[in-house]
Amino acid sequence: TRSIGVAVLGMGNVGTEVVRILEESADDLRARVGARLQLRGVAVRDLAKPRQVDASLLTDDPAALVARDDVDIVVELMGGIDPARTLIRHALENGKSVVTANKALLAEYTGELATAAAQSRADLYFEAAVAGAIPVIRPLTQSLAGDTVERVAGIVNGTTNFILSAMDADGDDYDVVLKEAGRLGYAEADPTADVEGFDAASKAAILASIAFHTRVTAADVHREGITSVTSADLLAARKFDCTIKLLSICERVRDTDGTQRVSARVYPALIPLSHPLATVGGAFNAVVVEAQNAGRLMFYGQGAGGAPTASAVLGDLVMAARNKVHGGRGPLESTYAKLPIASIDDVPTRY
Ligand code: NDP
Ligand code: HSE
Repeated sequence: TRSIGVAVLGMGNVGTEVVRILEESADDLRARVGARLQLRGVAVRDLAKPRQVDASLLTDDPAALVARDDVDIVVELMGGIDPARTLIRHALENGKSVVTANKALLAEYTGELATAAAQSRADLYFEAAVAGAIPVIRPLTQSLAGDTVERVAGIVNGTTNFILSAMDADGDDYDVVLKEAGRLGYAEADPTADVEGFDAASKAAILASIAFHTRVTAADVHREGITSVTSADLLAARKFDCTIKLLSICERVRDTDGTQRVSARVYPALIPLSHPLATVGGAFNAVVVEAQNAGRLMFYGQGAGGAPTASAVLGDLVMAARNKVHGGRGPLESTYAKLPIASIDDVPTRY
């Protein structure tokens, strides 16, 4: 039977779970794809660390692994901009499809990578980059492709939601909860990205880009983190029957003359306890989408952690592999209208 060669770059929180599922579900995945997904190699930085994988598959040379003739799909789970950006570009330029969870990279370089993918008719899939296990990229790029999305808003960072929820429910100490989020595999390698809102801003840039068929980068997103939120703030919010959540809000702004702009913003917001987003606790995420014809949709689930994120990666991997076997193409569009960015002062602040 035909096989599809897979290279996994990175074997940390997410990569370890991806490798596990690839091995444990090999027969099921073969039936779903119509070909065996054959793991050709796993790139890591430190070869001496103990890993749950056949040692002969490990390499500390990701570029050589990506370049192998028997690799058809590259799964990038290293994080960071470089060398991930160069490795993904090389893969795409050589017709290899790419699955990535790297929101920091996509928030800057989706345009460049989508162009490379379009030129070589390869696929670029990134469901895991926003809201972990929750399908939000596919609904926006496929299910709602015929609708006009007006707003995408929600909780897309598990670490900060875990921290705020614990501070709210138990009055827990910020530093203790942050450490716990790291131990559970939610926090980024440098948790500043989470608590200062950079991670949520990257996700907002990705969501705004695909929802509004434009290009928004992280620098376009108004950003405030949670480091100045105290237990006293949460207590005060309770007095008004509210709680505080770090929200990412992406909105199509229409001026009176009909011109359209895009607003993308991240900040800790007061939300009424009766609002569905107020009940989202722990590292869970939720995203509310408002579209002209579909109305309001809500997506909820595990937004971080190894296995939930690996679920989204595997879904993308199956899609990319099916396209290789059956000749389809992923849904990422390479043409788009560049909409101007609205300033934070130009938008009504709801929630
Ligand atoms: P980790 O830090 O746990 O793992 C990173 C892995 O990449 C490690 O195995 C590391 O090697 C390897 N690596 C890093 N740099 C290199 C390099 N230059 N060459 C070879 N290998 C390298 O990260 P996560 O698994 O948590 O996250 C991976 C990606 O997924 C990131 O982009 C992250 O933002 C994203 N993501 C993470 C989620 C989560 O909940 N954790 C959820 C959604 C997305 P070594 O093991 O030797 O150090
Ligand atoms: N650090 C991220 C979070 C991982 O806490 O949401 C999931 O993208």
